[in-house]
Amino acid sequence: MEVINRIDALRERLRGCAGTALVPTMGNLHEGHLSLVRQAVERGRPVVASIFVNRLQFAPHEDFDTYPRTFEEDCEKLAKVGCDVIFAPDDGEMYPEPQAYRVQTPAGLGDILEGEFRPGFFEGVCTVVLKLFNCVAPHTAIFGKKDYQQLMIVRRMVRQLNLPVRIEAGEIVRERDGLAMSSRNRYLGREERSEAAHLHKVLSAAVERVQAGERDFAAIEAAAMATLVERGWEPDYIAIRRRDDLSVPDEAGPAGSADEAGAPALPPPLVALAAAKLGSTRLIDNIEID
Ligand code: PAF
Repeated sequence: MEVINRIDALRERLRGCAGTALVPTMGNLHEGHLSLVRQAVERGRPVVASIFVNRLQFAPHEDFDTYPRTFEEDCEKLAKVGCDVIFAPDDGEMYPEPQAYRVQTPAGLGDILEGEFRPGFFEGVCTVVLKLFNCVAPHTAIFGKKDYQQLMIVRRMVRQLNLPVRIEAGEIVRERDGLAMSSRNRYLGREERSEAAHLHKVLSAAVERVQAGERDFAAIEAAAMATLVERGWEPDYIAIRRRDDLSVPDEAGPAGSADEAGAPALPPPLVALAAAKLGSTRLIDNIEID
């Protein structure tokens, strides 16, 4: 496995490689990232994992400076799962001058949910992802479903800008108690860590209500938010949304309507998404509703 820090050296290494698979990361790798790299190994060669903590996607009050940087451990983990190249540029390599050209994400998608609570986040993500695609020229790039909205926004960017890359999704990897793996879990104190699994539990309970046929989504969301508040969380949102564009689903439609034969119409595919702070740690999670 090679570690490459410079864009020109990376391009040289990958010259003529038609099947490169890329896993973009900000490092501090856990099993969630490693499962994406294993998926990449099945999809193409060489497998490139990028490690770059992207200043552009952090608001001034967020944790850019304290974001965990564990490069040596990350390299060991990546070598074990069959990564071929680590691309680890520094700030000056990715942003040699102020990044004035940026990807503007669409209103109604980039400014809802995560975008509402983290203004500029998706602009920062899309800008660096586009730059990484231009550096690596991957055939396939793999993004985890844990960042559900990010995955959707990147997919749309690729489609609308005709980028020649195939985007694949990787499943969420969870701890035994259901907590979605995340680099930010390491910020949790011991008591917070045992409480943290409740984000998934509360979200699962909301999903069960939808699966049982309830269609008052606002009431389900409000109840889930209230449960989190009672448990000491500060929720930003619990949202039941359409999977295709994250818009608010029509409450009356799926449950109330019927097809020509009188059978209840199937609801559109939905996803339940959550973001909440526990102490000073902000966690996100989501569950696709089947
Ligand atoms: O999901 C992440 O770790 C980051 O948002 C990404 C895609 C690597 C861009 O910095």
